[in-house]
Amino acid sequence: MKGIILAGGHGTRLQPITFGVSKQLLPVYDKPMIYYPLSVLMLAGITDIQIVAAPDGLQGFRRLLGDGSDLGLDLSYAEQDKPRGLADAFLVSEDHIGDDAVALVLGDNLFHGPGFSDILRRVALDLDGAVLFGYPVRDPERYGVGEVDGAGNLTALEEKPARPRSNLAITGLYFYDNDVVEIARSLRPSERGELEITDVNRRYLERGKAALVQLGRGFVWLDTGTHDALIDAGQYVQLLEHRQGVRIACVEEIAWRMGYIDREACHRLGAQLARSPYGQYVMDIAAAG
Ligand code: G1P
Repeated sequence: MKGIILAGGHGTRLQPITFGVSKQLLPVYDKPMIYYPLSVLMLAGITDIQIVAAPDGLQGFRRLLGDGSDLGLDLSYAEQDKPRGLADAFLVSEDHIGDDAVALVLGDNLFHGPGFSDILRRVALDLDGAVLFGYPVRDPERYGVGEVDGAGNLTALEEKPARPRSNLAITGLYFYDNDVVEIARSLRPSERGELEITDVNRRYLERGKAALVQLGRGFVWLDTGTHDALIDAGQYVQLLEHRQGVRIACVEEIAWRMGYIDREACHRLGAQLARSPYGQYVMDIAAAG
């Protein structure tokens, strides 16, 4: 299975911060934002990943992550010349996807919760059609919204409805079989001129092939698209890391625990950042085995 991280857009809601740097490179406490969605794909067992970004943003992602080989990954980069909607990513990344299934994650989404790695691995292994993730929120009108029947099966999807019929937001993580490319190709732009991911998901729903995994209470899904949301996300990570003494979305640790690199390589990556507590943590966990 292939992975795509969509890190496009102009981050207009975060201006002026985003005039000089891509939103997905901004810090969420101790690491760049893109580490969080990158960890999600890594935990799903996906190592062949393309980062889709605006032309002036690509360089920054390349400088940060390179070809991914340090982490045992195969990273590539593709340019989205202007934001044309989330589903455009499947057209931009068509060659990368090839004949495979694909997981798309938005570069500004942060997921954290018990058992998440197991859920991800299961979804990636058993994929048939599309798998979406639902999360209850107070303000569903800001998101794609799903409706479910009594058995928890998905029955309807709407993009940012003025009057949402449920509080179930569809998060920015999507798993699809290879049909997604042909579906994306057949879409018409919406009123706001974009290829909507919700339209892709509706096609799968019409075919009876859209499954929903509900992420319940106790799970954390944050987006980081506003000044306050960015601070909130940073403080959540800070609190958790201080309290537990573990770091979340530490890509070096994940690469080692997933078997993409060995312990020595993990330790070396930490040593390169030895003057930061983050680097120290990476060295410590590798040394502890
Ligand atoms: C996009 C999708 C929306 C989804 C959200 C998750 O919205 O269109 O369906 O719920 O991401 O973050 P956007 O953030 O592009 O407004």
